[in-house]
Amino acid sequence: VTDQQAIRGPDPWDELAARLGTDLFLDLQPDPSTTARGRGAQLRRRLADALRDAIADGRLPAGTTLPPYRSLAADVGLSRGTVTAVYNELVAEGRLIARQGSGTTVAAGAARSVESPGSHVPSATASVRHDFSLGQPNASLFPRAEWVAATRRALAEAPDAVFGPSPPNGSERLRTELAHYLSRARGVRTTPDRIVLTTSVMSALELLGRTVLGRRIAVEGYGLPFHRDVIARQGVSIEPIPVDHHGAVVEDLVDRDVSAVLLTPSHQFPLGVALEPDRRRQVIEWARRSDALIIEDDYDGELRYDREPVGALQGLAPEQVIYVGSVSKSLSPAVRIGWIVLPPRLVDTVMWAKGIREPDASVVDQLVLADMIATGAYDKHIRRSRQFYRRRRDTLITRLAEQGITVGGIPAGLHAVVGMGHDAESRVLNAGWDRGFSLVGLDSLRHPDAPAVIDRDGNPGGGILVGFGTPAASTFDTDVNALTELITNGSPPGPLE
Ligand SMILES: Cc1ncc(COP(=O)(O)O)c(C=O)c1O
Repeated sequence: VTDQQAIRGPDPWDELAARLGTDLFLDLQPDPSTTARGRGAQLRRRLADALRDAIADGRLPAGTTLPPYRSLAADVGLSRGTVTAVYNELVAEGRLIARQGSGTTVAAGAARSVESPGSHVPSATASVRHDFSLGQPNASLFPRAEWVAATRRALAEAPDAVFGPSPPNGSERLRTELAHYLSRARGVRTTPDRIVLTTSVMSALELLGRTVLGRRIAVEGYGLPFHRDVIARQGVSIEPIPVDHHGAVVEDLVDRDVSAVLLTPSHQFPLGVALEPDRRRQVIEWARRSDALIIEDDYDGELRYDREPVGALQGLAPEQVIYVGSVSKSLSPAVRIGWIVLPPRLVDTVMWAKGIREPDASVVDQLVLADMIATGAYDKHIRRSRQFYRRRRDTLITRLAEQGITVGGIPAGLHAVVGMGHDAESRVLNAGWDRGFSLVGLDSLRHPDAPAVIDRDGNPGGGILVGFGTPAASTFDTDVNALTELITNGSPPGPLE
């Protein structure tokens, strides 16, 4: 049964609402003005939005079991792929938990809007057997001893004034260290007074969205939905531009009425490619010509493995690029330190909006990080992490290659992309979730209006994203073997273990 058949009458929607609980109202009626072509995507979006709303406002409380996707698809006459994709999306966002043997349930805390696809599968960790969550550093790598030593030093040296009210742009000491570090490690051109410290890239985007981004911006067609959302929540409209195997298709910006573009040029998230040199030049020219801004999310710039490091775009156009980053990948998302490097002309506007007593993160922690950078402990940690992840990445590539499976997106970062068709993506993910894998599909990171990425054979492609940083050292080999088997046997469906 296809989505096209499903939209012929309203009945499927009533039935769906009934299956999700007698007093649950889900507004799923398709918009009659939508063309037949757009309906499949619209139905999917409506179902996802309706479920999100119902979870957010508590009509689907934590622990509620949703109908199995197969039977829901059959009952309401939607294609299985559509229902599966919606469930996948909400699992990836941490709103639902797919648990082996007990179906898909609403996650604890989901009513407070858990937003990170893949990077967290909160509350589900107890049931996850093979944790390939996207984008997290390995928790065991956190440099505890170095952090303690740096804390001792930083507190011993800090003048009393540090423990008074803090400057809204954050510790001057850390801004100074970061200016040197970002210049040395990433080619960023800045001075400490152009840096504003935040808690994360996410909070940086929130602040930029409500200050300098203008009313409409472009984003990469694939990216983190919660980054798009946080900008949209500031009243900024979002337009996706396509992404291909050379990064964002920046020539698509030319005829658009947008005041900025959000890019991940060093390592497109999630496809994993670096923006090719011609496109780097093109986007800078576009920004100069149209007086537009480029927001460069350099989320994992230090974790490069093979090639010469790809420097930050900001270094080529410091007047046009707002550079954002954080320690969420390099140290831990628990540290809560991020940064914005602003063109000089925007500093006052951002600082004005921030207020005079609004530092975001703990200045004490900022001093600790400053000490780690100044003493070389941070660099040492990065070098160690790089080696650790490179070994893991190589193991993953080798194991999958033995089965004829190639992996993309791997010159940098903490995840790999295993490309496959859309149907295979759904099959592998569903089989994986049934077996306790924490995995995310490429499609869950696509902007609903963005075209699917075209694979090397010219077909719209999907894929699964493998966060190889997360598995524990003691289970990594087993996890990779299980993953290889899952992907090899995932199409067609069958017993996988
Ligand atoms: C594309 C991208 N940007 C930024 C980040 C870091 O985000 P934050 O600093 O908000 O934790 C991540 C981490 O998962 C990411 O994947």
